[in-house]
Amino acid sequence: MRAGSQLQIKYYVEPDSAALARRAAHYFVEMAGEAVAAQGRARIAISGGATPKAAFELLADPHQPWRNRMPWKALDLYWVDERSVPPDHADSNYRMTREALLDHVPLRPKQIHRIEGELDPEAAAARYESELRSSFRLEGAGSPRFDLVALGLGDDGHTASLFPHAEALREMSRLVTVSRAPRLDAARITLTWPVINHARSVFFLVSGERKAAILKEVLTGPCDSERLPSQLIWPSSGILTFILDKAAAALLPPTDGEGCGVLERER
Ligand code: 6PG
Repeated sequence: MRAGSQLQIKYYVEPDSAALARRAAHYFVEMAGEAVAAQGRARIAISGGATPKAAFELLADPHQPWRNRMPWKALDLYWVDERSVPPDHADSNYRMTREALLDHVPLRPKQIHRIEGELDPEAAAARYESELRSSFRLEGAGSPRFDLVALGLGDDGHTASLFPHAEALREMSRLVTVSRAPRLDAARITLTWPVINHARSVFFLVSGERKAAILKEVLTGPCDSERLPSQLIWPSSGILTFILDKAAAALLPPTDGEGCGVLERER
């Protein structure tokens, strides 16, 4: 689904990674609460990697304010992508989420929509696509509309498992595809970028000085989505949010007194 020609990018800069995790936990709870208030359910797709783990741990922590505010009973959890490994493998996004979050919160198994990384990648992609179609009750060529998609940014400009120059960048009809990239030791299963863009809300979590240069390129450099697949993320709402720490935001234009900056991009 092609969004409009203009994209408003809002970025929030936190002092450090711990503050980033707190803002992310707050954002998860706020967006889930809004979705439940509007339609009785919240369907959120999360990414793997290292950055979101601290936010998941905060959501799971009974001594923090977010666990009791999350509408767990009305939440369905999905993954943006998964590595082609078993769910107990050290690289599994599901395993990271289970250890940081799922083992500690009251989500029932039917609320957890795992990508079956243990299967042949094409089979895993097909089964996840079928799970999306049935759980979103999609007819025909419909696309699932997540209430929130949480993404990360790789230091090569990838997001989800949409890697530079990968075949997966050109997949426009399937909801889920297999992604292979030269530097990857395992295939990955990923939502396609049109599905991500159909979400009501999309945010990136980006932390650390090693992401500063690529983040600047993605946000302020010329459009080159083959080389910088994160630039494909252009939500149909016309708004995209980045939650950053100071180190990652070091090369971006300064923020206002509230630690918030806004950039506009034209197609
Ligand atoms: C994954 C993610 C991937 C991740 C980025 C950033 O499966 O690893 O989907 O896109 O978000 O690589 O990862 P970090 O948060 O570890 O920097």
